[in-house]
Amino acid sequence: MDLIRPSDLSDDQLDHLLREAEHWLEHNRVADKRADRLAGRSVVLAFFENSTRTLLSFDMAAQRLGAMVTTLPAEKSSVAKGETLIDTALTVDAMQADALVMRHPEPGAPDSVAEVIRAAVVNAGDGTGEHPTQGLLDTATIHHHFGRVEGLKVAICGDIRHSRVASSTHALLERLGAKVALAGPTALMPEGHDGPDGIDEAVAGADVVMMLRIQRERLSADLGDKPGEYLERYGLTEDRFKTAAPGAVIMHPGPMNRGVEITGELADSEHSLITAQVEMGVAMRMAVLDLCINGSDDTA
Ligand code: NCD
Repeated sequence: MDLIRPSDLSDDQLDHLLREAEHWLEHNRVADKRADRLAGRSVVLAFFENSTRTLLSFDMAAQRLGAMVTTLPAEKSSVAKGETLIDTALTVDAMQADALVMRHPEPGAPDSVAEVIRAAVVNAGDGTGEHPTQGLLDTATIHHHFGRVEGLKVAICGDIRHSRVASSTHALLERLGAKVALAGPTALMPEGHDGPDGIDEAVAGADVVMMLRIQRERLSADLGDKPGEYLERYGLTEDRFKTAAPGAVIMHPGPMNRGVEITGELADSEHSLITAQVEMGVAMRMAVLDLCINGSDDTA
C-alpha cells in the first residue's frame, strides 16, 4: 500500500503502527539490529528536497529490516537534465523496486507518482502538503511518554501555514483524541484560521509544546523580523514554558533554529523529547515500510 497522508491509514492500521513502533524501538536498542521482514526487498530513496533525519532514518529503517537500499542522488539525477518526476518514477519501477520513499517540493507529487507505479509510494514530505511518517513518529513519541494521547493538550507553534508536519501531526493527534491548539504569527497561520493564535494561550496548560521552524525557503516575502525578536514574541522561552502543565514536554521535528523558535537551553533540557522523536523515527519508519510492503501482520 501507499502512505501519502494520514487518512490513508485505517484505525486498525494506525493502532498496528503504534504497537509495531514500540516493538522496533526496543529491538533497535540491542547490539545486533538485524531483522528479516524485508529480506530480499528493494527500497529506493529519492529526496528532491534537503533532509537529514528523514533520509537517514528511512535508510536505517529499511536496512535494519534486511532490505537492499538504493539512494537516488537527486541533484545529480536526470531530473537535472529535464526528465520529469513521472519518468524518473517509472524508471525506478521498471527496476523492480518494492518501495519508493520520496520527498518532493510539490504538494501532491507522490499522488501522481503512486497513480503510475506498482511499487509502494511512501511520502517523506511533499512541499507544504503532508509528512505522514513525521506525524506518526510524533504521535508514537507522545503515546510512549504519556501512555495515551486522548485528552492531552498539545500546542503546535510556529510556521503552521507552510508546515507539512503541522498538518500531519495535527490530524493524527486529533484523531486519537488530543486537543490541539495551533499558534503562530498571523502571517504564518493558515489562511482562514480564525481561532486564537496567541502562543501564550496555546502554551498555557499544555502537556506537549511542539515548536516548528519558520520555513523561510517557502516564504514569498521576508518576515522582516530582527534577530531575537521572533523568540521573544513567538518562540519558546523559559517564561512561556513555565505556564505549561506540570510534567509538560517539549518537541520539535528538527531541523531546529536555536535562539529563533526555541532557546537552546530548553531544547537540551530534561523536558525535551527531541532526541526521543529521532529515535522513534527509525522505529516508526521500520513499522511503516513493513506495513507498506508486507501488509499488517503484527511482529510484536
Ligand atoms: C521537517 C520537514 O522536512 O518537513 N523536518 C523533518 O522532516 N524532520 C520540518 C522542517 O523542515 O522544518
